[in-house]
Amino acid sequence: MATNVFLGIDIGTSGTKTLAIGSNGEILASASYEYPLSSPEPGWAEQDPHDWWKASVETVKAVIAKANIAPESVKGIGLSGQMHGSVFLDAAHNVIRPALLWNDQRTAAECQEIENRAGGRDELIKLVANPALTGFTAPKILWLRNHEPKNYERLVQVLLPKDYVRFRLTGEFATEVSDASGTLLLEVANRQWSSTLLEKLELDASLLPKVYESVEVSGTLSSAAAEALGLPKGIPVVGGGGDQAAGAVGNGIVSRGAISATMGTSGVVFAHSDEVQIDAAGRVHTFCHAVPGKWHVMGVVLSAGGSFQWYRNQLGDMEVATARAMGIDPYLLLSAEAEQAPAGSEGLYFLPYLTGERTPHADPDARAAWIGLSLRHGKRHMARSVLEGATYAMRDCLEIIREMNIPVEEIRLSGGGARGAFWRQLQADIYGQSVVTINAHEGPAYGVALLAATGTGAYSSIEEACAATIQVVSETKANAENVATYNRHYPQYGSLYQSLAGNFREIASIVRG
Ligand code: XUL
Repeated sequence: MATNVFLGIDIGTSGTKTLAIGSNGEILASASYEYPLSSPEPGWAEQDPHDWWKASVETVKAVIAKANIAPESVKGIGLSGQMHGSVFLDAAHNVIRPALLWNDQRTAAECQEIENRAGGRDELIKLVANPALTGFTAPKILWLRNHEPKNYERLVQVLLPKDYVRFRLTGEFATEVSDASGTLLLEVANRQWSSTLLEKLELDASLLPKVYESVEVSGTLSSAAAEALGLPKGIPVVGGGGDQAAGAVGNGIVSRGAISATMGTSGVVFAHSDEVQIDAAGRVHTFCHAVPGKWHVMGVVLSAGGSFQWYRNQLGDMEVATARAMGIDPYLLLSAEAEQAPAGSEGLYFLPYLTGERTPHADPDARAAWIGLSLRHGKRHMARSVLEGATYAMRDCLEIIREMNIPVEEIRLSGGGARGAFWRQLQADIYGQSVVTINAHEGPAYGVALLAATGTGAYSSIEEACAATIQVVSETKANAENVATYNRHYPQYGSLYQSLAGNFREIASIVRG
């Protein structure tokens, strides 16, 4: 039985996952709890913050029971969660309406309003390091003011998803720099709220919580929360991190030269940066890192693994049935089929824009396409081109990071894209350099459990915590011949979007009617 235990709670979009680790970073238990997402209008995405609290309580109680943890051995709690969501509270600290989530698309007009009020897109990027994107928090506050004025009149506090759970745990209104960066209201360079932008948007600074660094203690467990969780009151709750920064800590991306390429439904290329570095065109996000005084740059591909999942669901019935009969994962069969086609899929390209795209195009109207089909092409080419297209999209992010002169010394793979040897090789060949995998697979919940351990003194720094717990376990070297092939195909992939962007816009307006 470990003497000291640290909890990491990750408030995700499909559910909450809680992890308990021991003093040496070993995993003692984990538990998950799912909740629904509602879309009352096309393009809207909402959740009930009470579900996050219920899920946090249930999963904490479950890990304590599963690993038979003595309540008094819990020494720290870290919080992570889906970024950008808006929890609106009134003066009695009640939730005013369901929270608008990171993938909600209703705020195009408010993004324009923010750019106008800031004095243009370039000025906005100078102030807060990023352009206004529909998913970010600031346009959601303006949406409430523009569309639900009665609700806006009641508004006294805006919290991010994990910070609502923090409020329920500690009674404090607090956030930390990495998640605050995704509100569009933080001066990312100075790590504090932008009074200039708040003034231009006519938003009162008192709406926003206090900002901490990710390892700092932001409050302690209140008596009411302690009773709900079955833990002693007074346990420190550290800042934690938005799911991307926390996931990067969980992958050990805490020093210069370290990059992660994570393929879940979406794909994220995440680079640690010692200085604040901004892409003037705003194609990648520049946010504060969960490492004190450091930053990160990241590109987000909306349908990376999601493209292969779509392929499996729509065109993989036969493979799914065969895999079921053989008792194996259908993705193994689909990957084996893809491997039968040559690198470059004999000129077949797949654009992975099934749900529009964030990096580098910031285009909600972009759509997926196969280009280059001929009589020679069969399902093996189609499967391979989907994996190649999703990986080219990740390379788009990586190229911007390289252009910004951020060193790319080691690429750590995680998520579904790290699991099979074939996709690992494809990534090495398309990125044009070796890729590695690590021993840790628990993502953001692990990252914030390490932040909790560091913030309460078990490690002297987050870098030390990661070095002690996270190791590289495999390396895949790039194949020079395939690298050359992909280097010839990649520019074509890029120019296909440019050729089609106008068509995507027109098609979207026809569909909208
Ligand atoms: C990051 C982002 C997602 C959400 C949901 O910018 O939008 O990672 O945090 O996971």
